[in-house]
Amino acid sequence: EEWKEKGAAVGIRQEVDTNGRTVQRIMKKGVKDFNFGRTLGEGSYSTVLHATDRQTLREYAIKVLDKRHIIKEKKVKYVNIEKDTLNRLTEHPGIVRLYYTFQDERSLYFVLDLANNGELLGVLKKMGTFDEECTRFYTAQILDAIDYMHQRGVIHRDLKPENVLLDSHMHVKITDFGTAKILGLNPKTNSGGPLDGSELDRANSFVGTAEYVSPELLTDKNACKASDLWAFGCIVYQLLAGRPPFKASNEYQTFQKIVGLDYTFPDGFPPIARDLVERLLVLDPAKRLPMEHIKNHEFFDNQIWGKALWKQKAPRLK
Ligand code: ADE
Repeated sequence: EEWKEKGAAVGIRQEVDTNGRTVQRIMKKGVKDFNFGRTLGEGSYSTVLHATDRQTLREYAIKVLDKRHIIKEKKVKYVNIEKDTLNRLTEHPGIVRLYYTFQDERSLYFVLDLANNGELLGVLKKMGTFDEECTRFYTAQILDAIDYMHQRGVIHRDLKPENVLLDSHMHVKITDFGTAKILGLNPKTNSGGPLDGSELDRANSFVGTAEYVSPELLTDKNACKASDLWAFGCIVYQLLAGRPPFKASNEYQTFQKIVGLDYTFPDGFPPIARDLVERLLVLDPAKRLPMEHIKNHEFFDNQIWGKALWKQKAPRLK
């Protein structure tokens, strides 16, 4: 009973019934409908496997979650958040789409978009740093995806280069919504129910990855849309500098640096990008550059937005 089966993901198949009539049969996909291949990634509670739909030959990434482990570690809530959030974010090319979910006795299965080129972090590590043109392209796609999720009332809360995947065209796909927050929902359960005004634009306490955590989360235990834009500022910095702005030998010291806004730019950091980062890495979330101003910042001059951004050819990495 722990794993609800509402809004089950299905496919439709044409069949001829016993009276010779053609009928549409709604088929729920299951483990048997896929060929499973190599491991794409491993988390604490899940493994992501390459998979091919036996009928359509379409390729997917299937996240396999161990039910017993999730219950034992009290992570059921996060699994439900991930599913509910992904089910809200189905119309954007920059977000990993959830196609089907199913389960067997042992596991839950999330059938997701395949992002063949892995994590942005891996690509960055191989390159060292990105030039301005590459940084502009990848951060524009990340920002466009953040804009969409914010418009749909979702705060990601753990944006970082590991959670930015790249598909076969080197286009961005944001993943890992297990710690997201749906605005306007009861923060205790992250699902429907009565709420007061204070809950509408705030998120309950949660700390993501140390280096990208916003200062307001550390001081007020509160995340808002602007918290994702802080993380976005950290990512812009990291692509150009090759390392995140706030990094220390342990989490406590990293947090100290964040709340003290203790970071510097390396020599040669492009001045216009520096101006953007300085307007994003602002301690007061209310004073951080808002979405529309970021898109209009000089760093994104000549950058196209909207549908055309997703038709743009990825610049060659150099
Ligand atoms: N690793 C985790 N999620 C993935 C995905 N959707 N595609 C490829 N690799 C992944």
